[in-house]
Amino acid sequence: MVTTRAGILGTGHSYPEGILTNADLATMVETSDDWITTRTGIKQRRKAAPEEYTSQFAVRAGRQAIERAGLQAEDIDLILCATVSPDQILPSTGCIIQAELGANKAAAMDLVAACSGFLYGLTLADAMIRTGQTKYALVIGAEVLTRYVDYTDRQTCVLFGDGAGAAVVGAVEGDRGILAARIRSDGRYLEQLYSPGGGTRRKPTAETLAAGDHFFKMKGNELFKVAVRSMADISREVLEEAGLSAEDVKLFIPHQANQRITDAVANKLNVESERVYSGISQHGNTSSASIPIGLDESVEAGKISPGDLVLMASFGGGVTWGGVLLRW
Ligand code: UT7
Repeated sequence: MVTTRAGILGTGHSYPEGILTNADLATMVETSDDWITTRTGIKQRRKAAPEEYTSQFAVRAGRQAIERAGLQAEDIDLILCATVSPDQILPSTGCIIQAELGANKAAAMDLVAACSGFLYGLTLADAMIRTGQTKYALVIGAEVLTRYVDYTDRQTCVLFGDGAGAAVVGAVEGDRGILAARIRSDGRYLEQLYSPGGGTRRKPTAETLAAGDHFFKMKGNELFKVAVRSMADISREVLEEAGLSAEDVKLFIPHQANQRITDAVANKLNVESERVYSGISQHGNTSSASIPIGLDESVEAGKISPGDLVLMASFGGGVTWGGVLLRW
């Protein structure tokens, strides 16, 4: 029997000032505002300046989340940074964040689960808190994806944007907190969204860079179908585990990959658009950052009140997917 639940105590988000509009992209590849808007729902995305990097946004989001939780950085004993666009290979971006925040007691690491990274982190933090290993975890999703975008590939370059979102997770009282959390993967579909270069398999050389091996490659059509099915299935799974239904959900925050994916999943779950977060028009797809940004924007907009049921579902490269149901 669960005696202690983990819940979210504070949230934060941050993104670069730089904006890349659909009109900007139309000067770079053969595309149009109309195509991007109708096929994806995206109007603009944030783009980091050349001198900006992932941990800067993560630290800003993390600091805000800690402050809103009423805690100090020294109270945090675990930092999980979900990212597929780290500052560098070694050390982890988590450790860079730990030092920058002055979270002296915290273990820190990165978590590579693409767009599902934040829900992977939340699921692990939940388990660590419930076993008593961790008191306060800082879970961050942070990305500067625009570094890995090929601005000659119109299928991918219109989608991705930069930003970070964070949540402080700790033990909560009463019926609040994470009611169910599930994460999954299927590596057989790895080539649906991947970056073949830059690692040990195809080490970075002048040739691999020139060939663009470090850029994201995507089979958008195939991914679309798996994304809709997986997010709907995992949402039903966590609802069922908690003995609740989609009708009980106050706010559904799906990963922001494409407005058409969001609409299709919400439709399958019978959740009308008023109860669904959508930030894709302003942010594009920010991978692991999209759900925590959505969570924080919803909190700031007063869309979540104590006692509300919040459902989150994600899907991403790997492929990975996850669902978390919590009572705020
Ligand atoms: O976050 C991780 C998860 N990510 C996803 O799940 C992404 C899932 N996939 C998608 O969101 C969509 O598949 C895309 C937005 C990537 C593509 O939308 P689509 O409706 O599936 O388009 P499509 O790939 O079927 O392409 C339709 C047409 C093609 O032209 P033809 O062959 O019909 O002549 C494409 O070449 O649209 C063309 N096209 C474009 N046209 C203008 C593809 N990209 C563009 C573009 N601008 N940017």
